[in-house]
Amino acid sequence: MITVRDKDFEVYYTAEQINSKIEALVKELEHDYKNSTPIFLGILNGCFMFVSDLLKSYQNACEVGFIKATSYEGMQSTGKVTFSGMEHLNIENRDVIIVEDIVDTGNTLKALDKFLVSYKPKSVKVCTLLFKREAYKQELPIDYVCFEVDNKFLLGYGLDYDGLGRNLPEVYILNE
Ligand code: IMP
Ligand code: MG
Repeated sequence: MITVRDKDFEVYYTAEQINSKIEALVKELEHDYKNSTPIFLGILNGCFMFVSDLLKSYQNACEVGFIKATSYEGMQSTGKVTFSGMEHLNIENRDVIIVEDIVDTGNTLKALDKFLVSYKPKSVKVCTLLFKREAYKQELPIDYVCFEVDNKFLLGYGLDYDGLGRNLPEVYILNE
């Protein structure tokens, strides 16, 4: 059990469990992209640890890029999401694999999918460490998932609580 600011969290997935899921997922990706040099597109900040471990395992030719998602929460819960950093990337006619730490409502992903269209990728698939299927409100398929998780607040391995906890090597769940 750990305490971050005012909240207690307990281990949900150990570093070992995460690594073995990543190994299995990488085998699938290597198979699916054996005739391609895909671009892994990480969505900052949360994705950094997942991208790092995923690509250390991935043995085939690939490229990696990052863009930053910023969401503005309005009065409604439908926050507007914007992206920055795309000026450094060329994804035209390339196979893109979006890499996310977590897909929750899917708002970020929906906005990203729409945003990427004008850059003319050949294909776009989604790879996420964690997927809150119960909270997901979009139609867009989530192609690669390490863990389907409960609709509870998670922390660690890239995910933060008020800016803290991203450095934890395990995934934690809020102890309520
Ligand atoms: P969305 O609702 O799918 O757009 O998720 C947006 C973002 O909310 C994710 O990329 C995370 O940064 C954050 N998020 C969603 N669920 C959690 C959680 O359980 N812990 C920490 N951050 C979360
Ligand atoms: Mg995120």
